[in-house]
Amino acid sequence: MTKQITSLQDYKDTYQRSVNDPETFWAEQADTFTWFSPYEKVLDWNFQKPRVQWFINGKLNITYNCLDRHLETRGDQVAILWEPNSPEDDVQTYTYKELLVAVCQCANALKAKGIQKGDRVVFYMPMTPELAIGVLACARIGAVHSVVFAGFSAQALADRVDDAKAKMIICSDFNNRGAKKIPVKQVVDEAMDIGCNSVETVLVHKNTGDAVNWSDDTDLWWHDIVNGQSTQCEAEVMDAEDMLFILYTSGSTGKPKGVVHTCGGYMVYTCFSFRNVFQYKEGDIYWCTADIGWITGHSYIVYGPLLAGATTMMFEGVPTYPDAGRFWQICEKHKVNQFYTAPTAIRALMAKGDEWPAKYDLSSIKLLGSVGEPINEEAWHWYDKHIGKGKSPIIDTWWQTETGGVMITPLPNITDAKPTYASYPMPGIQPILVDAAGNELPDNNVEGLLCIKFPWPSMLRTTYGDHERCRQVYFSAFENMYFTGDGARRDEDGRIRVIGRVDDVINVSGHRMGTAEVENAINEHPNVIESAVVGYPHDIKGQGIYAYVITADKNLDDAFRKEILAVVTKEIGPIAKPDKIQFVNGLPKTRSGKIMRRILRKIASSDTSNLGDVSTLLNPECVEDIKDGALV
Ligand code: WT7
Repeated sequence: MTKQITSLQDYKDTYQRSVNDPETFWAEQADTFTWFSPYEKVLDWNFQKPRVQWFINGKLNITYNCLDRHLETRGDQVAILWEPNSPEDDVQTYTYKELLVAVCQCANALKAKGIQKGDRVVFYMPMTPELAIGVLACARIGAVHSVVFAGFSAQALADRVDDAKAKMIICSDFNNRGAKKIPVKQVVDEAMDIGCNSVETVLVHKNTGDAVNWSDDTDLWWHDIVNGQSTQCEAEVMDAEDMLFILYTSGSTGKPKGVVHTCGGYMVYTCFSFRNVFQYKEGDIYWCTADIGWITGHSYIVYGPLLAGATTMMFEGVPTYPDAGRFWQICEKHKVNQFYTAPTAIRALMAKGDEWPAKYDLSSIKLLGSVGEPINEEAWHWYDKHIGKGKSPIIDTWWQTETGGVMITPLPNITDAKPTYASYPMPGIQPILVDAAGNELPDNNVEGLLCIKFPWPSMLRTTYGDHERCRQVYFSAFENMYFTGDGARRDEDGRIRVIGRVDDVINVSGHRMGTAEVENAINEHPNVIESAVVGYPHDIKGQGIYAYVITADKNLDDAFRKEILAVVTKEIGPIAKPDKIQFVNGLPKTRSGKIMRRILRKIASSDTSNLGDVSTLLNPECVEDIKDGALV
């Protein structure tokens, strides 16, 4: 197993070593896995291109390391513990032995349907065990998985399928989500109607059993083709730098991009980080509440925990069904030891009242994690007091889809945890703050742009189908550095606090949204002339979406607002719906025609004291109008 840090001194020594001699450090970690043939060189990199390669020419299969490797020592230990949407329904468990069988059967079915190494398979599924099984089955045979969060619209799904040129979509019939049933297969049908020309097969897992439309040309039932397969499937020999998966994420411009992760480095870093960040001990029950549709689910529900031989819980449902005590009821029921969730969930549950966690025995909890957005002090203290009972360290983990694993975080019971600070870098991670010109700000007590100056094993390798975009977005802002898009401050003791995005990306309930993407969706409405979208502080979501819309329609009633929400839901999904829509006559623009979002952001945040000099704008007169009509 990869190293597990045990003390502050150990952290300091390990960090120093990892920075002084990264190759030796990461080789030690890599050598704890099973390689089919050894790598020849640890690292080759050039951020200008960018080209990053780890464990060069090493051959492996990540599922061999997640599953086969554990059979001797923990074949009968529960690998996946599944809690259904409804507390009335039965829990399911897969031991490591059973999970391997299920993965092999699914892998053989994929092969039988023509899926080969390198082919892309898109998942559009609820949090059922079959999602994890399907993802691992792809990795088993070297197919590239791309999981699309099942809350995205048919259009958003089709966009991703088309970009990945996927050969297969795997979905369920319906999703159970709280009291609702979501017609997943129907969304896939719509996506197939508007795009998805590369798709040959739609594999449907019967989840609820409700009736669905069927196309004999493409559709197949999971149980028909998976269940009868052989229970053995040899793990494909993968190069360390072969693609493992693509995960789409939003940026400040254009359509979402497919972040590419590869087999070797991702394996080494997710296992290493999982064991250290969560201080996982033999027998612990670990629960991350994320969806596998996001990177958190990939790295810390599936791969990290399984690589480390952990028991990882998957939850199908939502935090407020059947009531606001559901998370805490599950913690009690399964005696959860590590609990990892997002600030938005904490704030939403905090608003429901202290009586909900008070009803349950939470004494099994040893550690609390937070991820996805900055956690505010109030939520941090509530989490500490009502869930951790003041005895469980809180780890505020900062990372990104692109980083593959946790980069900056306190280590529980090892480094101290200061509210709202992600604190210190993981071993091997070299974050720096720079000013706008790219000069490093070496002192403590400074604020700047967060960059990483040295490669780490699980960093993105490219953006699928468009390497230049990868270079431009992440490696062109500052020479020889990976730019995160975040602003951060470093306190007097060197702890880092990530403040938020400095680009045109907003973080809504821990989900990344590109303002341009939302604007493009709004502009699809025939009566919208132009729009501008910004984020503003929102009590529960962290940031809300504020849209300024210029329209030809003089009937500015709520019906029109609803139409705009409908068009955004259709283009992207309900998560992108603006919280506020203000109709305006003009948008403040520079003389070169660029929208001044800084002004719009301030107005949306009710912070109009210092809008700066607006006289140089092309149309300064619109600013007063916008201020007067602001929705506060
Ligand atoms: C962006 C990445 C990492 C998995 C989930 C989100 C923000 C993430 C924190 C944190 C402050 C955070 C950043 C980052 N973020 N974690 N602990 N404190 N901000 O992944 O969708 O790729 O979003 O989320 O702004 O850039 P993602």
